Amino acid sequence: MVEIRRAKIADVDSLFELINIYSNKGIVLPRTKKSLSQNIFSIFVADVDHRVVGTASLAILDKDLAEIRSLVVDDSMTKLGIGKLLVEKIIEETKRVGIDKLISLTYQVDFFKKCGFEVTVKDTMPQKVWQDCINCPKLHNCDEIAMVYHVKDKIFA
Ligand SMILES: CC(C)(COP(=O)(O)OP(=O)(O)OC[C@H]1O[C@@H](n2cnc3c(N)ncnc32)[C@H](O)[C@@H]1OP(=O)(O)O)[C@@H](O)C(=O)NCCC(=O)NCCS
Repeated sequence: MVEIRRAKIADVDSLFELINIYSNKGIVLPRTKKSLSQNIFSIFVADVDHRVVGTASLAILDKDLAEIRSLVVDDSMTKLGIGKLLVEKIIEETKRVGIDKLISLTYQVDFFKKCGFEVTVKDTMPQKVWQDCINCPKLHNCDEIAMVYHVKDKIFA
């Protein structure tokens, strides 16, 4: 049984390992244990029998713009609906705080389309989106696709 819940400080080591498996492959940006601890309120985990098998973070970039970051699911647990549950939680939180636009910079276009996102033009994104790219080795050759989810346009149950 998968539970999507807020992260706790006790999850930091597991989160660090999980995220860094993918950051070592250049798929997501690396996170330090300090950054995970300092941002613990904005991190969600997928918990299966007290094991962290997935995570996603919500970064608020501006009063009308948020970004989903550090979305990863343990390799042995993919295609079971966990990624989508994490994205749904981030959408719910984005809506709860009153932000209309949620973006993702990603290689997983088909996955995000299934979560209701659309491809958008990267160049139209505000400067704030790129502030963390300064630490990325792909800074000048970024090939990620920008995708957007408009919270207001969607009907929630
Ligand atoms: C991308 C990722 C988060 C997806 O997680 P997941 O738990 O496997 O996704 P889900 O099982 O919730 O999939 C939801 C839907 O998307 C589809 N899907 C999942 N991964 C897909 C992929 N790589 N390509 C196409 N469709 C995909 C699923 O088949 C499912 O479709 P359905 O609703 O028709 O059954 C996971 O593969 C992962 O951690 N990848 C490595 C890190 C990464 O790329 N993170 C994204 C950074 S922005």
